[in-house]
Amino acid sequence: MSEKPIFSSPGPAWRASVLTLFTDAFPGVLGASIIGGAQKSGIWALETVDIRDFSVNRHRTVDSPPTGGGPGMVLKPDVAAKAIDSVVSNDRPLIYLTPRGKPLTQTRVRELAQGPGLIVFCGRFEGLDQRVIESRQMEEISIGDYVLAGGEVAAQVLIEACVRLLPGVLGDAQSASEESFEDGLLEYPLYTKPREFEDRAIPEVLLSGDHKKIAEWRRQKSIEITKARRPDMWQAYENGDGHERD
Ligand code: ADE
Repeated sequence: MSEKPIFSSPGPAWRASVLTLFTDAFPGVLGASIIGGAQKSGIWALETVDIRDFSVNRHRTVDSPPTGGGPGMVLKPDVAAKAIDSVVSNDRPLIYLTPRGKPLTQTRVRELAQGPGLIVFCGRFEGLDQRVIESRQMEEISIGDYVLAGGEVAAQVLIEACVRLLPGVLGDAQSASEESFEDGLLEYPLYTKPREFEDRAIPEVLLSGDHKKIAEWRRQKSIEITKARRPDMWQAYENGDGHERD
């Protein structure tokens, strides 16, 4: 899906330009639900750029073997640079998605959501020639300690995480601030009707109507869950070092 006109002139929308060899992978999940709706209402905009269109030969080659030997293929720097330079930047950060990047955090997501948008380069093959990463000052980001076949899914993860924070995207303003990571703790358990489900009852305190007690219970649960699942986050929280907080 190519939506070029909106990108050639300044406008209010938060913009994501995605450089990929697989434009068919977009909008993907970004076209669905509230994120897709927010795009339709002009809160944000997406353009895809086919890296192969910037190949410098008639075979449309984009890769070649790693110099020095080794497995796989490397994305050629001249092709990548041309693709990158074709995008009107509007001071948007240029992000290269790669498992060797800095881990993505909610703090970085919040910063990116507050800016003008993103230019995202999706890697494939073994990787991208180091010289273009340096010359175009790409910020290398990983979405987790596992290896995907390419950056396309990672790009959708990154863009979705940002777009849901844009003003007007989430209906209930609270739902973006009380959840996991926003205060440095994981989210407490949630319940809804019926009161009993397969012999499991909703914890009594949640039915008490005592909002102070409910808040205390939820906080306690958040702490228990964070300690058990994410000792690293708990440590940071206890140290008050602002990990994942503003
Ligand atoms: N490309 C392949 N694996 C990735 C990961 N874990 N994060 C970001 N981009 C990737």
